[in-house]
Amino acid sequence: MRVLLAGGAGYIGAHTAVSLLDAGHDVVLLDDLSGTSATAAERVAEITGKSAPLVVGDASDDAVLEQVFTDHGPIDAIVHLAAFKAVGESTQKPLEYYSNNVDTTFALLRAGLSHGIRSFVFSSTGTVYSDPADLPFTEESTTSIDLSNPYSKSKRINEVVLADVARVNPELNVTVLRYFNPVGAHASGLIGEDPAGIPNNLMPFVARVAVGKLDRIGVFGADYDTPDGTGLRDYIHVVDLAEGHVTALEQAQPGFVVYNLGTGRPVSVLELIASFEKAVGRDLPAQILSRRAGDVAATYCDPSKAERDLGWRARLTIDDSCRDYWNWQSKNPDGYATV
Ligand code: WQD
Repeated sequence: MRVLLAGGAGYIGAHTAVSLLDAGHDVVLLDDLSGTSATAAERVAEITGKSAPLVVGDASDDAVLEQVFTDHGPIDAIVHLAAFKAVGESTQKPLEYYSNNVDTTFALLRAGLSHGIRSFVFSSTGTVYSDPADLPFTEESTTSIDLSNPYSKSKRINEVVLADVARVNPELNVTVLRYFNPVGAHASGLIGEDPAGIPNNLMPFVARVAVGKLDRIGVFGADYDTPDGTGLRDYIHVVDLAEGHVTALEQAQPGFVVYNLGTGRPVSVLELIASFEKAVGRDLPAQILSRRAGDVAATYCDPSKAERDLGWRARLTIDDSCRDYWNWQSKNPDGYATV
């Protein structure tokens, strides 16, 4: 099938493009390059030996989307990965987050429906789950719009919109994939995560310390009610995540469906650091700091629905993720800007 990847040159996008191309599908990448580089698209072609046209443009612009369908159609499916995703930043820029993260969905749905696509896959987040008493989160766990930040709220708003649109378009498949914490990189070391500025997320921060770009890791709190006192998260290798998109697309049926994409195996901050030190082959400087506002002690999923319905499960471990992330970072110390 031919798949339009909105946000297709990003971290998740580039890896999903590789998995789709390797599975024999055609891919069109649409990206405004606000969070990545055109180099990522070039490297997708280098890895797969297949071309994946990159359209540089705004996924919320109806005219841009019409041109994409004209130039690259017919398109069978849209995978919507185009979003701003920094939780902290979203609390400072709510209008930008709601506008970008929801307007893109409206425009992509308008274009997709008018051109008769069969499937719409949406990149959502495990941060829509609102009650820690539900851990490990299943797809039926409590969600809420009353979440701690505009990023997560924008994702929940998208899910509500998609459910209603699916209800009046019974021939369309809408699949919502709730990611937990994507980490790792493609084994080639050619594509990976390349956050601008100081990384908010743990693994890119640890990697920048390992490659000498930052001095030391700050552990945000060691007084949580967890085995070692540090935060627990469900870190899923980005290649497993990408394969989850391919499986969901290939098995899409008409209707609206939600899947958690996670490992179901919570890992602590200290455990991730220890794993990364194994990959690097030396200790990394770290210090315990106070908790970060808005953080929860633990979040991880029960991934059994995707395994039962799709035959998909995460195969790679935190050690695989740290090994592959270090391979990417050490080969690209300045990300895609590395010459
Ligand atoms: C992980 C753990 C921190 C940085 C992110 C995204 C969110 C969503 C899920 C997609 C926590 C600790 C972190 C650091 C630290 N992604 N930490 N020092 O907050 O779970 O959420 O992934 O939807 O968009 O924000 O991930 O990597 O920021 O934090 O100790 O320098 O690492 O306290 O326990 P988080 P994270």
